[in-house]
Amino acid sequence: MADADPAIRLKVTDPERIPTPRYYDEAFYKAECEKLWPHVWQMACRLEQIQNVGDWVEYSNLGRSVIIVRGKNGVRAFHNACRHRGLPLAGKGDGGAHGNCKAQGFICPFHGWRWNAEGENTFVYGRHLFDERQLDAGDLALRPCRHEEAIGCVFINFDDNAPTLVETWGPILGKLETRLQGDQRAEWWYATELPANWKTAMEAFMEGYHVMRTHPQLQRAVPGLYNSMYGHDTGGIGDQVNPNWTKQQNIDAQLLNLELLSDGMAGMIHAKEVAIARTIPADILPDDPMQMVMHWFGAVQHAIHATLSAQGENVPDLNALAVSDPIQAVEFLFPHYFLLPFFTSTSAYRIRPTGPETCLFEIWSLTHFVPGTEPAPVMEPTVLPYDSDQFPPIPRQDYSNIPIQQKGLHAHGFDFMRLSKNIEGMISNYNRIIDGHLAGVTQAKLAAATQTLGGNFDGKIHDYDF
Ligand code: FES
Ligand SMILES: [Fe+2]
Repeated sequence: MADADPAIRLKVTDPERIPTPRYYDEAFYKAECEKLWPHVWQMACRLEQIQNVGDWVEYSNLGRSVIIVRGKNGVRAFHNACRHRGLPLAGKGDGGAHGNCKAQGFICPFHGWRWNAEGENTFVYGRHLFDERQLDAGDLALRPCRHEEAIGCVFINFDDNAPTLVETWGPILGKLETRLQGDQRAEWWYATELPANWKTAMEAFMEGYHVMRTHPQLQRAVPGLYNSMYGHDTGGIGDQVNPNWTKQQNIDAQLLNLELLSDGMAGMIHAKEVAIARTIPADILPDDPMQMVMHWFGAVQHAIHATLSAQGENVPDLNALAVSDPIQAVEFLFPHYFLLPFFTSTSAYRIRPTGPETCLFEIWSLTHFVPGTEPAPVMEPTVLPYDSDQFPPIPRQDYSNIPIQQKGLHAHGFDFMRLSKNIEGMISNYNRIIDGHLAGVTQAKLAAATQTLGGNFDGKIHDYDF
């Protein structure tokens, strides 16, 4: 007889095979809501959204709402509930609201009690009506929510005993900080509701193996690049160049790839970086095709750093970083935030479940600016249907798969997804860490496992001792 506990019934027992009901089973979803989400670090807002004292944003997920506010001495976070009878004090409790509380504080819409940015109660209407113990200042103060700042964002955690950010994510966090990720600012922010489980959506970004069929324009530009990674088993850097092309033709193919990625993401590789890449002359590059692409890429990274630094942007030395702090094309910060860092710009993704088979999917485009010339902070996402042609082409291609995969997961006889142990390991690792949360594995063990997700895009299945 099947085990009633969904965490046991649907546990990943073969690391290469992921049971499909994990993506729609209501009891499994409920277990995630109760045992995973309240204990993990969630990306709550970007720091540029709360630059001035009193600036606040409301973050919510699965019915829990938090106020993130800039106080006199830095960022504060509070559970978003009036200490009288519980109404949300900022927004409506469903996230996305923002404002500044400096002049008036947070005013409860029910009976008008007020709090300041430090969470202190500043006004109770008709104080004489209440017993003194009901108005104890410490007890009336808003309840703080655990939070940490990193890579230009505020992350919150509903579990006061969870490991810290750095204990959870490990060295990848430091590598992203060393890349000056926190210095990047949003150029745009899109959101869409996807008819798919949150994991279906996340997992579409855990490997580059889908490029050939899902993003064929990229494959066409430099077939050797992608084939050398996924297409055959003798791949190497030399496969990235076409021996029948001239050096310039090979460089043009690489440039076309950068351009398609840049246009396709409306960022990630910023147009200013593509323009710099175009200035690299072919004659400084070696003739040996095995060496050419590597040298070209190094020259592009050097020129991007030199040019943007000279213009006043605070960008890292990319070639030095490639040695000291290498990162992957996609880096995941379990469970719901991930970055596609490339050169000095980034696409950033956040996913929140809204039901067993729906999720809210957001994308930011981030880059550096000369200090003092940053655009106004983007305070709200542009919300579009997932099939909107206003989305950049590459996300649109990804969105074309995710909702139909969700349908396919229900097919009769399709009991598990079969993974490549060599390049789809991230999907297995993710799911088994989720299982660890559902099974009540110790926080220390979960943190140690979560650290293995860093630098493992296109990566291998790991062994975990739970
Ligand atoms: S519920 Fe907030 S003031 Fe009464
Ligand atoms: Fe994709």
